[in-house]
Amino acid sequence: MDRAVQRAVEVLRAGGLVGLPTETVYGLGADALSETAVARVFEAKDRPRFDPLICHLGSRAEVDALATDFDSTADRLAAAFWPGPLTLVVPKRSVVSDLVTAGAPTVGIRVPAHPLMQAVLQGFEGPIAAPSANPFAAISPTTAEHVRTQLGDKLDFILDGGPCSVGLESTIILVLPHQRPVLLRPGGLPLESIEAVVGSVVVPPPGSLSSAAPGRSLKHYSPKTPLFIEPTHRPHPQVARLAYRDAPPGFGATVRLSPTGDLTEAASKLFAALQTLDGGGWHRIEAQPVPETGLGRAIMDRLRRAAAR
Ligand code: TXA
Ligand code: MG
Repeated sequence: MDRAVQRAVEVLRAGGLVGLPTETVYGLGADALSETAVARVFEAKDRPRFDPLICHLGSRAEVDALATDFDSTADRLAAAFWPGPLTLVVPKRSVVSDLVTAGAPTVGIRVPAHPLMQAVLQGFEGPIAAPSANPFAAISPTTAEHVRTQLGDKLDFILDGGPCSVGLESTIILVLPHQRPVLLRPGGLPLESIEAVVGSVVVPPPGSLSSAAPGRSLKHYSPKTPLFIEPTHRPHPQVARLAYRDAPPGFGATVRLSPTGDLTEAASKLFAALQTLDGGGWHRIEAQPVPETGLGRAIMDRLRRAAAR
């Protein structure tokens, strides 16, 4: 086993906290079956106890240890998209503590694809609870350096797996027996791909999910610099422009998410771009909207939350 992976496994076994790379964003990992380790996750993030954690597993075969009811819809989604950027919320077993699920009768489960995270899961041989490795409501980390600067002093170890390839958190789907699946959070797996496998998914209107997905508070992913969604380019030397494809000169700083108009590329660069522009001392960040199809849905979800006050 890789030495760094081995160290991550040892820290997890000892009940410690590890910054872990996944293909979506970096996670703040802990032994999901240890209440004290899980309690430390909430403390390190300053995260409210009503916001449940996702459990990460090495493979579909381990799901039945955590879930009572993984029905045929969940099975089809798992077969199609695991390992990958999809979290399934399903009825939980009692081995999963109320602390992990914030008292909910369901548990969020994901099998991540990142090879180092897979190696840690194989070595640890148990579920790893991991929220995104950022302080509550801050920008999610897509590099080990983001984790170090935001939470470094609170973690026992950070496993550097390079920049995250997807760059947005997993798409979360609630799958209850005999009910149509429900989209709880748009994310790194496009809704269109999911619907191609299981048919239509219920998409609750914005703001209606507070009880089903307590973590989806509107203000989230917040840069310290005020962020506005602005379709028109209005160049100003004190303004940072987060552009989709192109922007005229005249802004204090400009990041183009994808010059060719590729939403997958734009998603992978979004959080790193927000981190960069936020550190520049600009008066405001003006983000250009992207088309709301495919990954554009999740990008616009994150931008709206970053703009909420
Ligand atoms: O891609 C991801 O999902 C990343 C990586 C590290 O796996 N994790 C992540 O975790 O984004 P977090 O904690 O930042 O967001 C997970 C969200 C929670 O805020 C909550 O809304 C939802 O998942 N969630 C988890 N368990 C749930 C449950 N049982 N019922 C409803 N929502 C749940
Ligand atoms: Mg998060």
